Parts: sequence; C-alpha cells; structure tokens
Amino acid sequence: MHFVSSLAGLAAVSGLALAQSPPLSDYSPEDIQSGAAFKDVSNTADGRMRDNINGRNQACTYDNAQVRQEFRAMPKEQRKSFTDAVTCLHHTPPQRMTDAERPNYPGVFTRYDEFVATHINYTTQIHMTADFLAWHRFFIHALEQDLRNLCGYTGYMPYWDWAADAAAPQDSEVFNGDEWSMGGNGEYVPNRSNTWLGTMQINLPPGTGGGCVQNGPFNDFVTNLGPVSSPYGDENVQGHFDHNRRCLTRDLNPAISSQYNSYKNVTDLILGEIYIEDFQQLMQGYGGHDNALGVHGGGHWLGGGPSQLEDFHSSPNDPVFFLHHGMIDRIWIIWQNLDINGRQNIIHGTSTLNNDPPSDPMQLSDMIPFGFVADDQVFGDLMDNFGGPYCYRYE
Ligand SMILES: *[C@@H]1O[C@H](CO)[C@@H](O)[C@H](O)[C@H]1NC(C)=O
Ligand SMILES: *[C@@H]1O[C@H](CO)[C@@H](O)[C@H](O)[C@H]1NC(C)=O
Ligand SMILES: *[C@@H]1O[C@H](CO)[C@@H](O)[C@H](O)[C@H]1NC(C)=O
Repeated sequence: MHFVSSLAGLAAVSGLALAQSPPLSDYSPEDIQSGAAFKDVSNTADGRMRDNINGRNQACTYDNAQVRQEFRAMPKEQRKSFTDAVTCLHHTPPQRMTDAERPNYPGVFTRYDEFVATHINYTTQIHMTADFLAWHRFFIHALEQDLRNLCGYTGYMPYWDWAADAAAPQDSEVFNGDEWSMGGNGEYVPNRSNTWLGTMQINLPPGTGGGCVQNGPFNDFVTNLGPVSSPYGDENVQGHFDHNRRCLTRDLNPAISSQYNSYKNVTDLILGEIYIEDFQQLMQGYGGHDNALGVHGGGHWLGGGPSQLEDFHSSPNDPVFFLHHGMIDRIWIIWQNLDINGRQNIIHGTSTLNNDPPSDPMQLSDMIPFGFVADDQVFGDLMDNFGGPYCYRYE
C-alpha cells in the first residue's frame, strides 16, 4: 500500500515535469509533412487527457464522454443522418427570435439562420479576441444539441481533418457529392481571373468549382443571409441581416489549402506556439505576415470565392463551417492537453477584434453573448471539454 502510494506520488511529481509540450525538433521534416508527427502529438495529448480526467473523480470521464469523430470515420448511415438533421434544422422555424425582433432580421427564416445571424452579429467580438476559441466551441456544441433535440440526430458533431485533403480538397470523399458526403464542389465555372484579397495581401487564383453545389445532401440548400464582407464586393448585402436568397456555392481551392492547411502547418502551430496569444494569433493568421490566413482562415478560404464559407461574417451558412470548427476545437484541445496545468484556463486578449476599438482584457468571469443561439455563457465554463456544459472528446 505504502509502496503504491509513494509510486503514485513519484508519478505525480515526474508527471508535472513531463507534462510539457514536446518540441517541434522531436520530429523529422518528413514526419511533420506526412502527418505522422501530428498523429503522434494527438495521441500524446489524448493519453495525457485520459490520465488527467481519471484523476479528477467527476461524473464526466474519459470513458463515458461523447466521442466526436472525423466525418469519414463515421458510419455512412450516420453521416447521412447528420446531413439530414442539418437540412431539418434549416426547415425548422426560428426558436429564439421574438415577433418584436423579426423586422430587424429580414433574412432570418429558420433555426439554422439564427445561428448564422448570431455569428454575423458578433463577428468583430469573437475573432482576434480572447474568446475566439471558447465562443466557437460553444457555438458548434449548441448546433449539435439542436440537431439532437429538434431534429432527432443521435450522433455527435463530426469534424473535418482538412490536413488529410490539403493537397486536393476537390478530390476528398467529404466533397464527392454522394449521399454520404457533405455535398459536392460547386459546378465548374471556367475563365475566371484572380481576386485580390486586400486586407490579407493575397492574390487568390480561382479554384476548381465556382458555381452552385449540384449534388449530394445540400444540392438544393439555399442560404438567406450575407455575404457581408466578401471581397467579391458586388455580392455584399447592405444591412447585416438583409435577405439574400442564393444557392450554396463552393470553389474548392487547393492553392489555399496546400499553403495553409497541411499537416506541416497544423503541427508547426501546435508544437511551435507555447503561448496562448501566439497560438490563437497564428491559428487565425497574422495580417500581412506570410501566414496571412492561418489554419483557421485557410479552412474558410479553401471554400474559394465567392463561397459562403469564405465570408468572414456569414460563413456558418455552409454546414462545412461546423466541421471545420470541430477541427479547430480539436486542435485547441490537443494544445491544451499537451500541458494541461498551464493551458486549461489560459486566455489572452480583449473582446474587440485586434483590440480595435480598445476594450478591457477579458476575464474568465465575463459573460459571453450568444444572441439567438443560446443564453449568454460564463467564459470560464467553456474552457474544459469535460466540464461546464461539455462532456466530449475527439477521436
Ligand atoms: C476561355 O478563355 C479562352 C481564352 O481566352 C477562350 O478561348 C475560351 O473560349 C473561353 N471559354 C469560355 C467557356 O468562355
Ligand atoms: C504550410 O505548409 C506547406 C507545406 O506543407 C508550406 O509550403 C507552407 O509554407 C506552409 N505555410 C505556412 C504559412 O507556414
Ligand atoms: C445582436 O446583439 C445584440 C446586442 O448584444 C443583441 O441584443 C441581439 O439579440 C443580437 N442578435 C443576434 C441575432 O445575435
């Protein structure tokens, strides 16, 4: 008995010393490029997560937590039930918008639109802010809950590992357009010129689609809101919540994904950035830096232009948004768990985009607004995937 407890004590002490993120230099350039390093890092983080939660003695455990899977790892029937439930939510009436509010939101017709409108509403308070990661974690959780509670979905939120598709997203099974996919690419539109993305100083070549999604589960998906801030300027609506009925458009663009969403890019991010301010900044891209989009911006822009996925404000219009943000959330969880004591509750920044206009540093006691999605949440409740409203992990 004594022997066991002193061994445990030893493990705890050495655990503290060991529970630090491995350096990037532990891996060869080949392993970083191929994804072997990322796989090893996510396994390491998962093992540490299991050890940590099992030491906590709480109702939510590693073994009873909900498991979110990569879209392609889900059984085909479950993929279809997910996309069916998304379509259902798109045909479900608004749940929180009151009749008095309705005139202010001419583009909101469905429960799904309430999610899009909320993201539009808070765009400049939830990006390049302290709560970017926590806000989006809760946002996708709330959609998952609605799919289950309003539309009979029995699974959990899938994620999309875009790094596996970085070389050619247009060839991904996720977008092959069959009934078990997330819908196809947009119809190919030839002879388009490059687009200058001014704020990011990028000249974006056209991608592999460009028109309406024609096959798969979302072939007749119409979106009602935005774009608000697309560089394809003549597309933009005047008022943030104006009605703009249009088809779901995609232009899957390997020029973006190969540059921003490779296994190298995500491994560099997770192992290369040890401070939250650098980690969350690099993930979203440093303006003007050669990583102008980061893996987060890359996952949006690989949708190409003009696609719903690329619009800063109204991007949740494309259901792929939620799978992309599942991946972003997974990356945060991996990063947190590589050094859980140092990183579980670490935040940095204010509540305004790039602190413009200036605002106070956010605190974990702050309330975070969720508009038409849900009641406002305490920031500190959203940091732990095994605490607050959550009990889930990624596989
Ligand atoms: C595309 O551009 C080329 C060269 O400018 C032209 O020959 C061709 O007819 C165009 N195709 C279409 C579909 O507009
Ligand atoms: C992303 O990774 C690719 C190689 O996979 C590399 O060429 C590119 O420079 C990286 N992008 C950034 C912004 O680091
Ligand atoms: C937009 O923000 C305002 C102010 O926080 C809030 O009253 C309103 O409910 C929000 N609307 C949506 C759709 O999030």
